[in-house]
Amino acid sequence: MRLGVLISGRGSNLQALIEACAAPAYPAEIALVISNRADAAGLARAAAAGIPASVLSDRSRSEFAAAADAQLRGAGVELLCLAGFMRLLDSGFVEAWRDRVVNIHPSLLPAFPGLHAQRQALTAGVRFAGCTVHFVRPQVDTGPIIAQAVVPVHPGDDEERLSRRILAAEHRLYPLAVRLVAEGRARIVAGKVEIDGWRAPSVAALNPSPPDLLVSPPG
Ligand code: GRF
Repeated sequence: MRLGVLISGRGSNLQALIEACAAPAYPAEIALVISNRADAAGLARAAAAGIPASVLSDRSRSEFAAAADAQLRGAGVELLCLAGFMRLLDSGFVEAWRDRVVNIHPSLLPAFPGLHAQRQALTAGVRFAGCTVHFVRPQVDTGPIIAQAVVPVHPGDDEERLSRRILAAEHRLYPLAVRLVAEGRARIVAGKVEIDGWRAPSVAALNPSPPDLLVSPPG
């Protein structure tokens, strides 16, 4: 499956996808990276991997949508991955690409949509945070959920520490979710995603964990 990746900045999730796609058995390849900012560090990651990239900056929302649409179609993109793309997409664009755009967000959606999700989680005092990959709908950070990763909040966490822990999970989750879509295993049925052939974990995680659970089992 040919991927397009939209970025605005650092591009560490782009890097995770680049590395996943490098494995011969991975069912997707990145055909085009588009940034809405010329100074996005992720552009250097695309260049280093030999992936075509373009910058579409200084445009209105509809101008960006028209230019991106033309470039993505020209590159034969079948699935568009938002990876730290910090601009709202034109709703006509989202409808035109319906079920072919996915996003990663650093919270367990539908909790904490929007900016500063990790800060919102700390403010709310939740014991678990995480990240979500979902199909994109016009309303921000909504749409059928494909996959989630959960990470514990530790006592004394600040936004930076929690963000780092979540980001490490993002880098595992995004390639996994894209793989499920590319293999045709993630199908939207009645507004929710059904996954073929994969199971949910059977264990519960507790936070805080009673002291006896923190001791490694013998052997
Ligand atoms: C990630 O936390 C992602 O979940 C959010 O923006 C951040 C992008 O980081 N949407 P990077 O540019 O992929 O490093």
